Amino acid sequence: MNVKKFFAAATAATLALTLAACGGEGAGDPDPTTAGPVDAVDARIGVAMPTQTSERWIADGAAVEAGLEALGYTVDLQFAGDDIPVQAQQIDQMITNGADLLIIAAIDGTALAGQLQTAADAGIPVIAYDRLIRDSANVDFYVTFDNYQVGVQQATSLLVGLGILNADGSAGDATGPFNVELFAGSLDDNNAFFFFEGAEDTLAPYVADGTLVIKSGQTTIDQVATLRWQQETAQRRMEDLLTSTYSDGSKVDGVLSPYDGLSRGIITALQNAGYGDNMPVVTGQDAEIASVKLIADGVQFASIFKDTRKLADQAVIAAQDFLAGKTPEANDTSTYDNGVKVVPSYLLESDIVYADNIQSLLVDSGYWTADEVASGIAE
Ligand code: BGC
Repeated sequence: MNVKKFFAAATAATLALTLAACGGEGAGDPDPTTAGPVDAVDARIGVAMPTQTSERWIADGAAVEAGLEALGYTVDLQFAGDDIPVQAQQIDQMITNGADLLIIAAIDGTALAGQLQTAADAGIPVIAYDRLIRDSANVDFYVTFDNYQVGVQQATSLLVGLGILNADGSAGDATGPFNVELFAGSLDDNNAFFFFEGAEDTLAPYVADGTLVIKSGQTTIDQVATLRWQQETAQRRMEDLLTSTYSDGSKVDGVLSPYDGLSRGIITALQNAGYGDNMPVVTGQDAEIASVKLIADGVQFASIFKDTRKLADQAVIAAQDFLAGKTPEANDTSTYDNGVKVVPSYLLESDIVYADNIQSLLVDSGYWTADEVASGIAE
């Protein structure tokens, strides 16, 4: 996936035209939401991304950078290696270097209040990218996906894989009982709670009537969370579950996994324990290329496609609005309470990836090429 693919040419053209109509001064206005327009050629935008260990964040960073640069902005893009103090320092540095606006995908959504206060004092608007920044009044806008719905889709794909539901949502033939285990993301990432809640609500009736059995008894997000979304941590927990809960000859039928990296760790643990030919239904998220290949090969059952090109486009549109002294258009003003205020948000929709829609969802849209899907490696 190269950078060019991430920024829809049509959007870039529209943005460039709109931008051409803007100009003037005003970055020093202490209220970012009423700040006057900043001249594009002078505007500098700090983009803070969490890590390069997951390909989605590399793609997000590249797409946001390309979109902003296409409008003439200077971009300071930083990845923090999933290290919270490093991300805080990077943001401090962006502010010191004269950022006119910040776009931040936080590692720990509660750890940036100090940086955001400094930004607010300097009149720098802040856009939270994909992950909500919590406990601060100084978050001006949030671009993300409908994260609760992502969780609903993850659980739905688990139910479809088990045959309890059909892909069209109608009841399937399977009645269970099925042994399933749950995994959640990192507790310092607000999204992890939305994903888990959407999944929990979807699975609850099937747990209540005995169709699904969470055999380990580990059902709360605290029990099933995975710090920093680490693949190795998920692999170890799956190994532990197999030893502690399934050494009596019983089998795991399904695993709710909220992210493809975790799914691959879980699959490795299952393969090492002899599940190779009879893989449980394992879900995922992000349509990472290695997992898309596993789905095509029938190893991982599903993922969730969140088109990072569209998210990047929304971040760029919001940035452009702020720099032009306008308020970006929100399509949700009630869901994302960060503990201090409800942050106006723009939510995008996601799709479930199954083996039979890889072509239509991912290849036809240009997200991955057929060769990339076949090799499992991004070009
Ligand atoms: C993102 C997911 C991603 C996860 C791990 C979440 O905040 O929304 O898309 O899978 O972080 O990187």
